[in-house]
Amino acid sequence: MFLNYLKGFAEASALYSEEPEFETTHLENVILHSMHLSKKRNLDEKLVMAIAMGHDLGRTHLKIHGKKHAKTGSKLMKKLLKDSDFSEEEKRIICDAIEHHNEKNKIHNEYDELIKDADSLAHRDDGILAEDNKYEQSRIIASECDLLEMAFAPVFEWISVYNEHVEILKAKYLDMDKCNNHPEEWVHEIRTGIRKLRTILKLLAPSEKKIQRKLDQWALEMSEARFLHVATVKSDRLSPKVNKKLNGLYKELGSKLTQKKIEKRIEQLNIEFDHEKIMSDSLARYERLIMDATPKNMHKLRVKGKSIKYLTQMGLMELSPREMVDAVLRLHDLLGDYNDFLEMADYFKDSSYKDEAKNLMESIQMEIFFIRKIILCCTTTKNVRYN
Ligand SMILES: [Fe+2]
Repeated sequence: MFLNYLKGFAEASALYSEEPEFETTHLENVILHSMHLSKKRNLDEKLVMAIAMGHDLGRTHLKIHGKKHAKTGSKLMKKLLKDSDFSEEEKRIICDAIEHHNEKNKIHNEYDELIKDADSLAHRDDGILAEDNKYEQSRIIASECDLLEMAFAPVFEWISVYNEHVEILKAKYLDMDKCNNHPEEWVHEIRTGIRKLRTILKLLAPSEKKIQRKLDQWALEMSEARFLHVATVKSDRLSPKVNKKLNGLYKELGSKLTQKKIEKRIEQLNIEFDHEKIMSDSLARYERLIMDATPKNMHKLRVKGKSIKYLTQMGLMELSPREMVDAVLRLHDLLGDYNDFLEMADYFKDSSYKDEAKNLMESIQMEIFFIRKIILCCTTTKNVRYN
């Protein structure tokens, strides 16, 4: 009964508003998208309808424009709800959702999120979605994604890919032409090769701790050279001293890593895989990190993003929807650049590194928002987390 009354009230308010044509269509579009999303997310349809019908009353009925229309609309709704049989808790959910509905850059509870997403979808249909409104754009893409899933290849495939990459690493180590003529590529490829093997092992054979520690060491011995090379690429102001040191490091690595030594290393990588199985909670761990993306977590997020990148590249893992994969890879690249800037803050003292780091941080936050939205939109309500 109350919902029928509210519908009439909202329609009349739209009709007698300052822009009757736009407001009437917008109300219809928001109601349609809200109904669809409430089914998809398994939320209470009556609550969702009340929120959808009342969300813009501040503007249509009270003629309040701009940011304030949400808050005034929420107050009006509180009065209207007195005559309804919604419980006190339900009334609070409805009024909160209306009050928050234009805070598109924040993530609130599932009812608040639903009206924000439905409103964004309606804005697109109304033809008033600004191209630079990244938050509404993200909400639209995330709302239209399918279920979030992560699938793994069978164990035997993991083992064959592992063995294949052991051979690849060996060839990279022994590529003397590259070692002498393009040492920066040589270092980078070896580090990447080692990291790929470590990623496979971590999931396929978590008990192989000893060889994982070795792999860590082998990656680490390349790190300083890689770090200095990245620094020289990012800033041409670096002193000739840095270049001299870098060349020294390359020479040192080249003479240290003899054929005999490499063969010994490769020998250690020959593992008999027995009863190992893939630990498959990878996505859940990534989700937890994204949901709690504090600055302290950024490093873990970067490492986890890297392993998702390697595993999808090697065909051992499939993540869907596609938008999620793209966002993870983009976020991973941004975090990598940001990390370079942080680590090299001293070298970049006189450059514009502060501005660039600030821009990167903003892009990172946007990407995290997008991934969180996909996770929230594409999992069932029981998995919804609050801020
Ligand atoms: Fe609104």
